[in-house]
Amino acid sequence: MQSDLESIINEYLGRRSGDQAPRCEVSSADPWHFDVGFSLADGAVYRIRNPRPGDEAALHEFADQLGPQSKWLFCPFPWGDSQEELTASFGRAIQRTVSRARAAYLLLHGVRSIGYFYLTGLGEISDVRRPDPWVPELGIGIADAYHGRGLGGLAVRLLQVVGRDLGVDAIELTTHPQNVAGYHTYLGAGFEQVGMLRIDAPASPDATAAADARRDERQMVYVINTAKRMAVLEHLAQQRAEALR
Ligand SMILES: CC(C)(COP(=O)(O)OP(=O)(O)OC[C@H]1O[C@@H](n2cnc3c(N)ncnc32)[C@H](O)[C@@H]1OP(=O)(O)O)[C@@H](O)C(=O)NCCC(=O)NCCS
Repeated sequence: MQSDLESIINEYLGRRSGDQAPRCEVSSADPWHFDVGFSLADGAVYRIRNPRPGDEAALHEFADQLGPQSKWLFCPFPWGDSQEELTASFGRAIQRTVSRARAAYLLLHGVRSIGYFYLTGLGEISDVRRPDPWVPELGIGIADAYHGRGLGGLAVRLLQVVGRDLGVDAIELTTHPQNVAGYHTYLGAGFEQVGMLRIDAPASPDATAAADARRDERQMVYVINTAKRMAVLEHLAQQRAEALR
């Protein structure tokens, strides 16, 4: 996993830093003890690590840098709830990483949290049997001021390395048809669209409820275990059919 991570980050740094020698430090490359740092030619220092108990404030800091449109497109949290309820929801998300049901990562610029991304639906640590096929879901949000710098593409590629390391069969996600940046980010990382999936989501960018409407999103997949490709596609088709019932 370590060398895959280094090559992905160095490739990103090579594109962003031009002639400057890229600097990347992978101090831990276990999906659950993840700690990666890198700096760009302009001196900006970034770090990617797992969220841990007590990181609720870091998640609030990240959330405060997402505008209404981003929150409408990326809605794993009840954005319209009170600060207390949101804090509790962040706490539960952190707990899911501690229990290894979610492999989650915070992206920091200096000390500022500017991104959160994850594979979720990994099962619980006590699970003896893995689902077959094993297809966790990817989620990603990058602070608005940092869009278009290649960080989303980098995060998706890191999650593909994590998925491979965990031995999952594929990674799935959904993205709104108007999410041009998201769609291109996933296509560029090798995801393919398999259909449209009906999901619960906020009705509009200014909705106050977390998931007060149903909407159809592109369902996309990145197959890792090609021997399971047919089973993965059938599993996703079943999800789409069930969502319409
Ligand atoms: C979607 C998101 C994660 C993309 O991250 P990003 O850092 O802005 O994207 P990147 O700069 O890494 O760009 C990735 C690719 O998408 C392309 N892209 C980015 N924005 C684009 C746009 N508006 N139109 C067309 N292509 C675009 C880039 O050119 C790049 O392609 P390449 O790899 O071929 O060069 C980020 O914009 C975001 O967090 N948006 C708000 C929340 C959200 O939509 N989350 C996803 C929900 S499914």
